[in-house]
Amino acid sequence: MTESSDFWDFYWEMRLQPLQNLGKRAAILAASRLIRQMSQPPGRPVRLLELGCGEGQIIGALVDGHAQVTAIQESVGVDYLAAAIETCRRAYPGMRFIVGDFTDAALLAALGQFQVVLLVNALHEVYSAAYSEPLGEVDVTLAKERVARAFAGAAERVAPGGYLLLFDGLEPPGDPRQKIRLRFLTRQAREHFETFVRQYRPFRISPRALGSPNRVELSRRDFTRYITKSIFLGKALWQTERYESYQYYNENEFRAAFARAGLTIRELRTLTVDDEKWRRTVAIESPGESFPEEHILIIGQKD
Ligand SMILES: C[S@@+](CC[C@H](N)C(=O)[O-])C[C@H]1O[C@@H](n2cnc3c(N)ncnc32)[C@H](O)[C@@H]1O
Repeated sequence: MTESSDFWDFYWEMRLQPLQNLGKRAAILAASRLIRQMSQPPGRPVRLLELGCGEGQIIGALVDGHAQVTAIQESVGVDYLAAAIETCRRAYPGMRFIVGDFTDAALLAALGQFQVVLLVNALHEVYSAAYSEPLGEVDVTLAKERVARAFAGAAERVAPGGYLLLFDGLEPPGDPRQKIRLRFLTRQAREHFETFVRQYRPFRISPRALGSPNRVELSRRDFTRYITKSIFLGKALWQTERYESYQYYNENEFRAAFARAGLTIRELRTLTVDDEKWRRTVAIESPGESFPEEHILIIGQKD
């Protein structure tokens, strides 16, 4: 089996065809490059860890995909949902999966160190779990402390010279209180927005009506949350998505977290994969405003 990047582009193109989530695809391609790089010279053993592995779509595909060409010595997936880990164990019987909370420092410390650590769409759930009943919103101070601690714990698992790959939501630059005016392009979009306002839990959403039922004004903070959740409205997934803020850090906060953890950023990319769908849903009427970059992919290397 050849190891050229053309081969791998083709391999992942074929293998990931059924995967609807294009963001996840970007994370898998980037992780595949890291695994191949870390396994040089040929046969150099690589340990791979995914925190918040869900049903193993990422770590499972990576271990399977590289089985014949790299020496992934051990891979570990951690998730606190027992049912998700059961699914992983059934799908990937040779791999190690642990039911546990990855914010538990003792649990992580016992795992040792890894050449590649993955945090894919996981930390925004740590942030969202800091919802406070008395506040009726996420307790932002507490949430950011928990995210910072969880990130530091993940970074400690990276072996010297190894990599941490983070893929997650991104708070866009600019004042989160800045007002943005929107026009809904369909009646369904307007109805879905009302569902969003009523049911989104992490923050109270306070739109201002603009004299016509199709036009509203929202803060940048709320607009970002609405637009990135708009693809789930009216679908079964909304019932879980409504509890999670996909955004928690802006780019500067991510950079600072990597620097604090002793990780040098080797790659940082922002990407949007759903903007065509967004454009069919709403028009932005505020001059100079545009749809946000939705995801961030950062690869940091331990000195
Ligand atoms: C959106 S899913 C992403 C799953 C996987 N990384 C992927 O991209 O396919 C996030 C996962 O993180 C898990 N999770 C969130 N917080 C966790 C924690 N503190 N400890 C363990 N798992 C956690 C959730 O149970 C969920 O399965």
